[in-house]
Amino acid sequence: MSEYDDVKKQLKQAPKVWLVTGVAGFIGSNLLETLLLLNQKVIGLDNFATGHQHNLDEVNAEVSDQQWQDFTFINGDIRNFEDCQQALTVNNLTVDYILHQAALGSVPRSIADPILTNSTNITGFLNMLTAAKDAKVSTFVYAASSSTYGDHPALPKVEDTIGKPLSPYAVTKYVNELYADVFNKTYGLNATGLRYFNVFGKRQDPNGAYAAVIPKWTAAMIENQDLFINGDGETSRDFCFVENAVQANILAATANEQGKNQVYNVALGDRTTLNELFSSLASALGANNVSYTKTAIYRGFRAGDVRHSQADTSKAKELLGYRPEFRIEQGINKAMPWYVKFLTKNKL
Ligand SMILES: NC(=O)c1ccc[n+]([C@@H]2O[C@H](COP(=O)([O-])OP(=O)(O)OC[C@H]3O[C@@H](n4cnc5c(N)ncnc54)[C@H](O)[C@@H]3O)[C@@H](O)[C@H]2O)c1
Repeated sequence: MSEYDDVKKQLKQAPKVWLVTGVAGFIGSNLLETLLLLNQKVIGLDNFATGHQHNLDEVNAEVSDQQWQDFTFINGDIRNFEDCQQALTVNNLTVDYILHQAALGSVPRSIADPILTNSTNITGFLNMLTAAKDAKVSTFVYAASSSTYGDHPALPKVEDTIGKPLSPYAVTKYVNELYADVFNKTYGLNATGLRYFNVFGKRQDPNGAYAAVIPKWTAAMIENQDLFINGDGETSRDFCFVENAVQANILAATANEQGKNQVYNVALGDRTTLNELFSSLASALGANNVSYTKTAIYRGFRAGDVRHSQADTSKAKELLGYRPEFRIEQGINKAMPWYVKFLTKNKL
C-alpha cells in the first residue's frame, strides 16, 4: 500500500477539518472534491476573483448529499484579515489543516498589475499565515511555485538551488516561502510550501487573457481557432496532472515531523516541449472526435518566461512518500472529455 493510500484510509477512519483557500479555483476545487469524497469536513474561502461558482457546483454534483453538507463556503477576501480569521472560526470548527491556494496566478498578469498581485499574494498570504498562527492550526500547506527557480539554469530543479525571480509573480511566491520559514522559526507554525510545476486538469479556466497554456490551446483547438506558440516551441515544462498535486497536498498536511516545514517540488519529473504538447493535445482531442484543421502559428518569446523547467521530485518522494500516479498523457486523456463538454456547453 502506498503512503497516500495509507493516509487516505486513516483520514476516512478519523476525519479532519480542512480550510481550503481559493476553493472555487482550479486546484482548490479539485482539493475540495477529493477531501469531501474522503468524508472530511471542509471550509472553503474564495472571493471569486478568478474562481467560479460553477466549479463548486460541479463538486456538489460529484459528491453525496451527506458529503456536501460537510462543506462550508465563505465568500471572503484574504486581503481582509477578518475574513481569514472568520474562516478559522466558522461553525465553531477547529481547523486541523490549511491548504492555502488563494492567489493571483499568471506571470503576465503580474507584469501588467504588480500592485494587485502583490496585495493578494503577499499581504493576503501574510494575513492567512498570521490567522493560522493565532488559531494554532497544526499545519499550513501553501501553493508555492516553480517560478521561484527564476534565472537559475540548472536542470532538473532541486529545491535548495534557486536563481533570481524573473517576474513580480515569482517575487511574491518566493516571499511566501520566506514568510513561512520565518513564521516557523519565530512562532513555531508548521508551514510547508509546494512548488507546483504547470499543474493542469479539469476545471482549469480556459477563458481570459491569463489562461494557462493547456486550457488555452485546448479551447482554441475545440473552437478551431488560431493557436499561437510563443517562441520556437522547444520551450519545455514539467506538466503535472492535478491529481498528483492533490496527493502532494494531502501528504504534506499529514506529514511527520521530518516532512514538515519544508519546500517541495510538485511535478512529474519529466520535460515536455510545447511542440510535443501541441501534438498530444491534438491526438487526445481526436480521440474525443474533435479535429483541429489549422497549423500552430509561431510568434515571439514571452517576457518573464523561463526557457526550460523540470523538477527533481526526489525530496517529496523521500520525505512525503509522494508517488505521482498520472503521467502527462494520462492526465490529458482524463481532462479532455471535461474540456470538450465544458466548452461545447458554454458555446450553446
Ligand atoms: N496552476 C498552476 O500551474 C500553478 C503553478 C504554480 C503555482 N500555482 C498556485 O496555485 C494556486 C492555485 O492556482 P490555480 O491554478 O488553482 O488558480 P485559480 O485562479 O484557478 O485559483 C485561485 C483561486 O484563488 C481565489 N482568489 C484570488 N484572490 C483571492 C482573494 N483575494 N481572496 C480569496 N480568494 C482569492 C480565486 O478566486 C481562485 O478561485 C495559486 O496560489 C497559484 O499561484 C498554480
